[in-house]
Amino acid sequence: MRADLIVVGAGLFGLTVAERCASEFGLDIVVLERRDHLGGNSYSEFDERTGIEVHRYGSHLFHTSNERVWRYVNRFTRFTEYRHVVYAVHGGRVYPMPINLGTICSFFGRMMSPEEARALVGHHAAEAGDADLQTLEGKAVSLIGRPLYEAFVRGYTAKQWQTDPRELPADVITRLPMRYTFDNRYFRDTYEGLPVDGYGAWMRRMADHPRIEVRLGTDYFDIPEVTPGAVPIVYTGPLDRYFGYYEGELGWRTLNFEWEVLSVKDFQGTAVVNYSDQEVPYTRIHEFRHLHPERDWYPDDQTIIMREHSRFASRSDEPYYPIHAPGDRIKLGRYRELAKDERDVFFGGRLGTYRYLDMHAAVASALSLVDNRLRPRFGARAI
Ligand code: FDA
Repeated sequence: MRADLIVVGAGLFGLTVAERCASEFGLDIVVLERRDHLGGNSYSEFDERTGIEVHRYGSHLFHTSNERVWRYVNRFTRFTEYRHVVYAVHGGRVYPMPINLGTICSFFGRMMSPEEARALVGHHAAEAGDADLQTLEGKAVSLIGRPLYEAFVRGYTAKQWQTDPRELPADVITRLPMRYTFDNRYFRDTYEGLPVDGYGAWMRRMADHPRIEVRLGTDYFDIPEVTPGAVPIVYTGPLDRYFGYYEGELGWRTLNFEWEVLSVKDFQGTAVVNYSDQEVPYTRIHEFRHLHPERDWYPDDQTIIMREHSRFASRSDEPYYPIHAPGDRIKLGRYRELAKDERDVFFGGRLGTYRYLDMHAAVASALSLVDNRLRPRFGARAI
């Protein structure tokens, strides 16, 4: 295989590195991607039956306050004006998320000023008193009080983790967003929107460079002729797999997606609805047509929905969210030490660093790798 640099994984991290190294340094890049498409988890495609764009791995909303990232991604796509909102169903009623003044007033059944709402939530939180702050439940109750916790956090979290929140460690949550205004925009970044002609088109433009060759359906570990040390490698696959699980497996949560085409124009009136109650087996329903209200050509008699179920991942599952249990942190530290000794292998991205990264963070992190580690190595060849 003739290449100056091999990139393992065609997600946003790998594509950003490949595009920059081809365009800036004139390197010949081979990108190996085990799936049958570009874009990693951010990938989307147009459903053949309905013409509706679906996000194959769950709704992906682009948002950032990072000027450099925003300028960079706008080279490959324009963005729509979409602004994300989320609703939650609890006890058959619908509430805006994240918890805000609208949620609080509806839940307690009366109009409250911001100060009254703050005082009420503070009162409930204080009642938590001697809650065990080492557990997720104790910490959550101490932050937002028991009534809101029981309604919006307990069942949802139990479904996400398949574990009673009384048995989950407190550090699963760092904070619980709570707003004392009626602002229910989900993200607060400077820039937000969706790629006008889809993530698939955006990713294809990133890879569309004469010096970039993409090999889809190709697992790095199935190509014995690519040996570390012979050609520099940017590796964005799972860190533990790279080392043959030598230190044990890192824990991940995975998702099961249940797709359905319905013969109605509109199923739920918005893109994402959370289901907070534990009796409902899924955590969310996505309805993709609502991500693009500007597309007046979507069908009037069909819609696509996807129910999302969460569970622990086994080795053969797609890893989606790192768990970071204490045992994982110990293994991660050991893998990081091993990674330091890998000559000419640069680990990056969500899987390669065992870190949840939003899309803008994946791009920012890839640009930093190019600046800080690849430019010193290849920058002299800049074209
Ligand atoms: P990513 O996982 O996308 O790509 C890695 C690629 O490497 C994959 O395509 C994989 O197949 C490939 N690979 C792995 N091992 C390989 C091997 N041995 N050989 C060849 N190829 C290999 N972000 C956001 O900003 N807004 C959002 O709304 C969401 N929503 C969201 C929902 C869900 C369910 C998830 C799981 C994630 C999000 N994200 C998100 C995060 C977003 O998906 C994330 O930022 C990017 O996937 C990170 O890009 P990476 O390139 O690091 O990984």
